[in-house]
Amino acid sequence: MSNSATWESPSNIALVKYWGKKGIQLPANPSISFTLNEAKTRTKVSLAKKQSKDDYEVSVIFEGVEAPAFEGKILQFLNRTHQLFTFPKAHKLIIETSNTFPHSSGIASSASGMSALALCLCSLEEQIEGNKTLQFMRKASIAARLGSGSACRSVYGGLVSWGAHKDYPGSSDDFATALDSNQVYKEFYDFYDVILLVDKGEKQVSSTLGHSLLDKHPFAKARFSEADKNMALIKDALKTGNLNLFTKVVEAEALMLHALMMTSDPYFMLMLPNTLAIIQKVWDFRKQTSLHPVITLDAGANVHLLFPAQENEAIFDFVNSELLIHCAEKQYICSTIGKGPVQL
Ligand code: DP6
Repeated sequence: MSNSATWESPSNIALVKYWGKKGIQLPANPSISFTLNEAKTRTKVSLAKKQSKDDYEVSVIFEGVEAPAFEGKILQFLNRTHQLFTFPKAHKLIIETSNTFPHSSGIASSASGMSALALCLCSLEEQIEGNKTLQFMRKASIAARLGSGSACRSVYGGLVSWGAHKDYPGSSDDFATALDSNQVYKEFYDFYDVILLVDKGEKQVSSTLGHSLLDKHPFAKARFSEADKNMALIKDALKTGNLNLFTKVVEAEALMLHALMMTSDPYFMLMLPNTLAIIQKVWDFRKQTSLHPVITLDAGANVHLLFPAQENEAIFDFVNSELLIHCAEKQYICSTIGKGPVQL
């Protein structure tokens, strides 16, 4: 019987942002994210007989259709992980993958996709070598990082940090770690993330280009120091349940990410008029109601609206009546905080 492994892994949303790299896929500053319950990638990797003499042989099937366009990225991933896994050179890898969200939703799939792929390789290694891979999840996180930085955080559920920081015991630039739930006010595990799809197009700035803009950025040093401080502040907010501090740090991080993009060479403006309209309405709503919707952004125009579960009725009414008009075809994705990947 041929070997195969299947994993489903979710996307995550960063609260303190990873923006800038050093070395091979190491972060210029630490980051922390919520793992989502939606926006997942399901990947099956099967081993077949190798036909060619090339180092690696892969065939990618995306949503049921052969997708040679994805092969380059997979080959780069295999080359980067060659010290972690030896078996891929001896087989042809057949990778069948699909997303629970539309490819053209403007939602990045690298975190969910690369974490699912890394987990499949760890499972196949266990099958082939016949013994348990030591520190399975840690190895998966290291491998996922080499595919896409943010993917290393998707290997765990809940709140996950990545990057060495003095206030996060056991933290490392090489892999992510889940926060100890005793250190997190339980309300945060019941948060919602409503992703308002302002722009469903392909990414304007690739993550590779985006991160490299920090190499010569005039504000890079100040940015890395702010990220360090924000990691300490958010840890405190998460522990004490201080929603005002949480809001301040998360929104400042999102705006700083975009401010960095607007001030790089070349510069970019990724927010659209509808992004700004949503942000303004959320801030007005927060002032009027004393509820706690919090905005954050990735490297794009879509807005993530984070809020505690007990406020969901009032905030969903507000989303429906005020915010969906700013979304492409009134579309959004509703997620809660997830428990992390599952093996199928
Ligand atoms: C803005 O993880 O997509 O979403 O390592 O080049 O694959 P690569 O970058 P990627 O960058 C994510 C950047 C971000 C912030 C974050 O998720 O921390």
